[in-house]
Amino acid sequence: MAANSIIKIKNVSYTYPETKKPAIDQISFEVERGSWTAVIGHNGSGKSTIIRLINGLLVPDEQGQPYIEVDGVELTDDTVWQIRNKVGVVFQNPDNQFVGATVADDVAFGLENRGVARNEMLKIIPKVLEAVGMSSSSDVEPANLSGGQKQRVAIAGILAIKPKIIILDEATSMLDPEGKNQILEIVRQMKKKYHLTVISITHDIDEASQADQVIVMNDGKLVDQGSTKKIFNQTQVLDDLGLDVPFFQQIKIRLIQDGIKLPNDIDSEEEMINYLCQLNSKM
Ligand SMILES: Nc1ncnc2c1ncn2[C@@H]1O[C@H](COP(=O)(O)OP(=O)(O)O)[C@@H](O)[C@H]1O
Ligand SMILES: [Mg+2]
Repeated sequence: MAANSIIKIKNVSYTYPETKKPAIDQISFEVERGSWTAVIGHNGSGKSTIIRLINGLLVPDEQGQPYIEVDGVELTDDTVWQIRNKVGVVFQNPDNQFVGATVADDVAFGLENRGVARNEMLKIIPKVLEAVGMSSSSDVEPANLSGGQKQRVAIAGILAIKPKIIILDEATSMLDPEGKNQILEIVRQMKKKYHLTVISITHDIDEASQADQVIVMNDGKLVDQGSTKKIFNQTQVLDDLGLDVPFFQQIKIRLIQDGIKLPNDIDSEEEMINYLCQLNSKM
């Protein structure tokens, strides 16, 4: 096992009650501390179930000696709260995440639940709201916020409990492109500032292509895992699974089909843009 893994999952399966087929089938993987991992796969492939297993909302099937470790702590009945404090999850629907009557109350809720003293809370809340650019909305009612603003507050609530890992479970999927980009930019900044590990479950292939590594799920199984470069160069595999290929990769394939010889080292949208600009200036 890699020495610096913050998450270790071994032989984990999970079958929902009253179903026969496991939703997660003998999954093993590790996530490196400080990395950004994208999890891609069809609806129903088991992505959210993995998250529920990591934060102990579900308990793995017994067979196969499953093992889950987060930040050096084995997940057991006794450690589940310790682990939940290390993992913050932002869910898909911004409207299902609000519990407070105002933005500040909402952030306070998670702190109150953890017994944080009031004077301590009053220091933390403005700090985390500032981090997500929501300082001026402290007293605003959630109903008056946009979807993107609600997700920013959800992130503030997570930052308040000082997690090690932030998981975005399709957290940008209901947002417009601007809201989506703002969320990703905030997560990037927070990752850097607090040395967070990020896991983003996403259908947005351009979002996934910003990760360091990609995990591909299909039908409850982990079918592939590797560097983003490796996974997105296997365009045929992604295509066979019915998954999207990043936009710059699509362009790459079309150019090659049209007989244009491309350098081997184009592995991001930025490199593709640079190359195309050069090509254009030579014409
Ligand atoms: N509460 C549940 N009860 C029964 N089956 C469920 C439940 N939640 C999810 N499933 C099933 O488990 C499988 C994986 O679901 P999920 O982890 O939500 O997939 P994803 O997040 O990749 O869309 C699917 O077949 C889904 O129908
Ligand atoms: Mg899901």
